[in-house]
Amino acid sequence: MSIQKPKGTQDLLPGVVEKWQYIEEKARDVCRRFNYKEIRTPIFENTELFQRGVGETTDIVEKEMYTFPDKGDRSMTLRPEGTAGVVRAYVENKLYGEPDINKLYYIGPMFRYEQPQAGRYRQFHQFGIEAIGSADPSLDAEVIAMGYLFYKEIGLKGVRVEINSVGNPSCRSVYREELQKFFAPVKDRLCKDCQSRYERNPMRILDCKKDQEYGVGAPSILDFLDEECQTHFSKVQRHLTDMGIEFVINPRMVRGLDYYTHTAFEYKAAGIGAIDTISGGGRYNGLVGTIGGSQIDQPGVGFGLGLERVLLVLEAQGVDVPGVQPLDAYLIGLGEAAGDEIAKLLFELRSAGLTAEKDYTSRKMKAQMKSADRYEARFVAILGDDELAKGTIMLKEMATGEQAEVPIASLADTLKQKLS
Ligand code: HAM
Repeated sequence: MSIQKPKGTQDLLPGVVEKWQYIEEKARDVCRRFNYKEIRTPIFENTELFQRGVGETTDIVEKEMYTFPDKGDRSMTLRPEGTAGVVRAYVENKLYGEPDINKLYYIGPMFRYEQPQAGRYRQFHQFGIEAIGSADPSLDAEVIAMGYLFYKEIGLKGVRVEINSVGNPSCRSVYREELQKFFAPVKDRLCKDCQSRYERNPMRILDCKKDQEYGVGAPSILDFLDEECQTHFSKVQRHLTDMGIEFVINPRMVRGLDYYTHTAFEYKAAGIGAIDTISGGGRYNGLVGTIGGSQIDQPGVGFGLGLERVLLVLEAQGVDVPGVQPLDAYLIGLGEAAGDEIAKLLFELRSAGLTAEKDYTSRKMKAQMKSADRYEARFVAILGDDELAKGTIMLKEMATGEQAEVPIASLADTLKQKLS
């Protein structure tokens, strides 16, 4: 049997890849305007980074990581998310020594051993940003607004922004106890995962699809925020309102990672089967300290947007994403001498910045014309022995059918002029 791709992965073939490139370019463009710089960190890291950074009690660390010993018997893990690696790089490269805050972005693959379904894969791709070095609530709002603008600019409609505050560790520990009291009477009826979450991370019970009925009437984190957390949260809301970003407060939003403090947020949209969260993020004020030691603690905030989900929702909404671009010119040489001349001419056109192609398998003229159509070539240039002797080439504009004989030497210039 032939070898197939691993479960939960995708081959992104030509035709589809161009749509990814379009989305990625839009992401880079938004980043430029918001002054985020690209960072590329390793795709695998020491396992301990995620255990410490993402949190031992999260689903990601408990059951979803691709962890393996390398040949030196070190435990390595394919990154399940981007934040921990960026924070590690920030600490290791002493980026905290720079006078300005660090605004970083990344686009790349992440890996989680999950049950694949529409919008959920084992290798998926995130566009993420991390702003490290400021606790200013205007930065939380900027991050939320930036994701919102990205979705808007790629033409995704109906994105809802949900926000919450998960407080700081001290208000969360009071809330945790209240939640345990609330769930105590039904503890034995909770699913197996939630029974262990009850002890280790009761907030995650609110997030469990199976135990939703038991969460009805659970206390809200927002009633347990201390003054500092309340002030931060209301300032974030004020900034969002000032920027004209609509949002709803969802006090039950927990997020699946342990590092969040204060603001947590998600973007929601319909169109991917059972999944309505298309992405999310939040503030993480203890993470730099957890990874780098308390002496260099710095607050951070960011988001991770799944790119597969972007494309799925765009498709569901019937939004046309630009794909393969038409070719500027397709060159056909009739006979050996003309064929040789075409090979040289092609290089000239490409050097001049044009996209150009020819046949490489000695097919008949008709088959070559079909190729030109498949490539959506805007011009076809045909060279026969007669033209070659005269130093000219027949140039045909495919949309109009208009033909003209032009000097070979000025083909690149003529094409450029006609294409502009
Ligand atoms: P997350 O909520 O775990 O957060 O993932 C963010 C997004 O990645 C999800 O909303 C979804 O779009 C995409 N995603 C996650 N898992 C899968 C999967 N199995 N298949 C397809 N897409 C998936 C984080 O990863 C945080 N690092 C975000 C963040 C950055 N928070 C602060 N800074």
